[in-house]
Amino acid sequence: MKAAKPVFVCQECGVQRPKWQGKCDDCGAWSSFVEERPFEGAMGGPTTHRYAMPGSQAPGAKKYAEIEASKADRITTGIGEFDRVLGGGIVPGSLVLLGGEPGIGKSTLLLQAAANFANAVGPVLYASGEESEHQIKARGDRLGVGDAPLYLLAETCIERILEEIGRVKPALMIVDSVQTVFSLKFQSAPGSIGQVREAATQLLFTAKGHNIPTFLVGHVTKDGNIAGPKALEHVVDTVLYFEGERHHSHRVVRAVKNRFGAVSELGVFEMTGAGLRPVPNPSALFLAERPTASPGSAVLCCLEGTRPLLVEVQALVSTSSYGQSRRMAVGIDQNRLSLLLAVLEKRAGLHLVSDDVFVNIAGGMSIEEPAVDLGIVAAVASSTRNRPIPQGTAVFGEVGLGGEVRGVAQANLRIREAEQMGFTRIVLPASNMEASEEMGKAELVGVRSVGEALDVLLS
Ligand code: TYD
Ligand code: MG
Repeated sequence: MKAAKPVFVCQECGVQRPKWQGKCDDCGAWSSFVEERPFEGAMGGPTTHRYAMPGSQAPGAKKYAEIEASKADRITTGIGEFDRVLGGGIVPGSLVLLGGEPGIGKSTLLLQAAANFANAVGPVLYASGEESEHQIKARGDRLGVGDAPLYLLAETCIERILEEIGRVKPALMIVDSVQTVFSLKFQSAPGSIGQVREAATQLLFTAKGHNIPTFLVGHVTKDGNIAGPKALEHVVDTVLYFEGERHHSHRVVRAVKNRFGAVSELGVFEMTGAGLRPVPNPSALFLAERPTASPGSAVLCCLEGTRPLLVEVQALVSTSSYGQSRRMAVGIDQNRLSLLLAVLEKRAGLHLVSDDVFVNIAGGMSIEEPAVDLGIVAAVASSTRNRPIPQGTAVFGEVGLGGEVRGVAQANLRIREAEQMGFTRIVLPASNMEASEEMGKAELVGVRSVGEALDVLLS
């Protein structure tokens, strides 16, 4: 047998080259190539079937109509908010990647889910390369795990983990984290893209072949990507991100890819002394400390996945004491803020050139959807004119460059949430009025332009 040739793999994008190079010609990253030499002999024997899909016995294509629809019975994690981001529970045989910064609560959430699952469904195997069994047990005691059939394995060799899966035959598998796992087939260090991809692929085939749902924990790199991002996100069925600020107790789990459910679905938790507690009514949490009758505060109805959410947009406009005025955005896109300030300047006659403008989404949330625009505009104008937005008023709507207020998706859901939270007046795009007429409890005010919206909100 010929000795396997080394390959050099870019750790940023996964592209393979026969020689080392300083700059990746594919993604432009510098010094990102690492040699990944297959272990001599490990790849011996027929390799053609290594990636054959297990469970597909009969070769050849099948007729669509003859394929039985597999009923994707969901298995609950016992944690309502977690089920929600997963699209209604765990799908048998699915591979789920849970990413997030260190210390955000990934291991805690999965240990809680594992304990529930073990009690309700069957044995769970929790392989950890980050903590010893004792450390996990100490945490489990705080979470009240009890004597569920939960098996802990402090192991990082994927071949050994697969052996244990064969022995324990778990109903759920957890690998914490995928970056610590290595395969004997490669010589490169754990966490390199080849190792991460190999571990994920092997676990994928085990998950699909034996119908064992599997969770992978993934660390997030400085720029916010799961290390080896492209390689992993394609392999797994579902990608969840754990977000939140260290200094806030609430945490948000967001689905960014889901083969079995809606994306950008959101689950909200609060970190307590006894683990993560689901927050079924996040609007109340995000509005809890809102100042009343204070200029620069607007309540926005935004939508995360299928879930409407009320958040507070705060703005502070103050005279700039230095030559250049500053614009700062937390929780919204900085460019979006610049654009909206220009619209306010040009279309609503606000003079902001010599002012510092700070905008913040209270509670550490971050919002990407365009419906946030009207909330930002309202909060900034309210602070500029030093006039509060009347209590009980909520807003949503996209703002265009012409100063027009544009309709947004799912107006009904937003209105219902605002009504449930006790808001009595909702300022929304005029084009969303038709779809929303029949509701009734709150007064709906449709606006066509930024000027009109500010008249309604601040007169
Ligand atoms: P952890 O799940 O270890 O984070 P990750 O796996 O994402 O790195 O969470 C660690 C943090 O959570 C740690 O700072 C302590 C805190 N924590 C609590 O506040 N309460 C608890 O019951 C537990 C288990 C952890
Ligand atoms: Mg952890």
